[in-house]
Amino acid sequence: MKKISIAFVLICALISSTAIAQAFKEKYRPQFHFTPKANWMNDPNGMVYHNGTYHLFYQYYPDDKIWGPMHWGHATSKDMIAWKEQPIALYPDSLGYIFSGSAVVDKNNTAGFGKDALVAIFTHHDPVQEKQKTGKHETQSIAYSLDDGKTWTKYKENPVIQNPGITDFRDPKVRWFEPQKKWVLTLATKDRITFYSSPDLKSWTRESEFGANEGGHGGVWECPDLFPIKHEGKDIWVLIVNINPGGPNKGSAGQYFLGDFDGKTFTSNSKETKWLDFGTDNYAAVTFSNTGDRNILMGWMSNWQYANQVPTDPWRSANTIARELALKTVGKETYLTSVPVKELDMLNTTGFSLKNVKVKAQLDLTDKAKNKTGLFRLDFTTKNTADFSIVLANEAGNELIVGYDKAKNQYYIDRSKSGKIDFEKGFGEKHIAPRFATESNIPLTLIADVASVELFADNGLTVMTDIFFPESPMSKLSIKSVSGINVDDLKYTVLKPSME
Ligand code: FRU
Repeated sequence: MKKISIAFVLICALISSTAIAQAFKEKYRPQFHFTPKANWMNDPNGMVYHNGTYHLFYQYYPDDKIWGPMHWGHATSKDMIAWKEQPIALYPDSLGYIFSGSAVVDKNNTAGFGKDALVAIFTHHDPVQEKQKTGKHETQSIAYSLDDGKTWTKYKENPVIQNPGITDFRDPKVRWFEPQKKWVLTLATKDRITFYSSPDLKSWTRESEFGANEGGHGGVWECPDLFPIKHEGKDIWVLIVNINPGGPNKGSAGQYFLGDFDGKTFTSNSKETKWLDFGTDNYAAVTFSNTGDRNILMGWMSNWQYANQVPTDPWRSANTIARELALKTVGKETYLTSVPVKELDMLNTTGFSLKNVKVKAQLDLTDKAKNKTGLFRLDFTTKNTADFSIVLANEAGNELIVGYDKAKNQYYIDRSKSGKIDFEKGFGEKHIAPRFATESNIPLTLIADVASVELFADNGLTVMTDIFFPESPMSKLSIKSVSGINVDDLKYTVLKPSME
């Protein structure tokens, strides 16, 4: 009898642990960040909202989990949170691999493919010419879809922009410029941006260039974006330029410029190099098209420093959470802020709140959190009085530390003891970010998935995204402060998985 009941208990324990493992069928698989089921992914491409659906295309190599001949993979979502992988949208052809680009809804049928056609504008990268070193192996092409992105037809007269002899000539981002009723295309051209315009998405005129002597130049310029944001009653134009390497914490990162755009020329009034995200894992981030007044950014949650080596199987890479952009002025400078889209709330489950709690040495929240999965959102406010850290940990002794250094007025994420780090020499490091806010209150939002943490400090004025690979879920959480802080407000929410 005793034997039977022990066996019964063991079986029950097994069933409940498989229930947890169920959500974690594969080690390190993100549970609410988009990942392809298998194989290699990099940049998000052609993100567009159309007929009630968000489309995400992405750089995809379906035959291996390392970078290879690029296709456009495809996923769709009703909310930017739960994504469903779809069949591949664009395959390489005689003009080359399908590199990064954008998609627009052609509401006025300017291209003649059909009213409301989805038109993709992308780079053709010809590996044959690349070997021959013609310097002209990257050109811009278009394709259209009349069935909501399911099937695509490439334009017969591709490419639509020939290469004038610039080795890195890619990643077109197109938007409609209403005042002059024309399309504007922003292109990364080696160490600067070149703008083109077109009445019909087919014939393009070179307008101007920007940036040879501005911003960061520690690497090649890639994946740009250009859009206005209303701020204090007027339109401020934001030019995003991704750069690799040369990021603030090494490797790939996104910088941005604020200024003016008149349909021809972009003029920047940024005095310093500004970064979208100070973590190491938000690259090729650009915004969705056709989202009205909302500017929603999503990036590739990896870094070219180690993207091909991360220890995941059978896929590589995830995307960041979608983020809503806005502008905020602090003193004489204006900054882009980003916070998780409100749709993320659909993942909220149980949780708890605390008010006015003193943290001296350590406040262990593990028992209160009752969260075996390590998927959570933490919203937390304290006064800027002392150093503190938020420590995610697991049974295996791995630790991921998110903190604030008062003397340096910096935020940081330290992943040096976060689990598997040996696949790349520089992976296990501490990353730092300046604090721009001057208010005495420090509000923080932390979004944690199985293998990533996204920090939105000061309502998105300083953002850090880092991936990590813990041996088991980060089920423990504590707040630490040697000299002590007061937690004014804290809200902890367990998030549920959104991926199938
Ligand atoms: C950026 C990038 C783009 C290019 C694509 C190739 O990560 O290098 O410039 O179009 O990836 O996959």
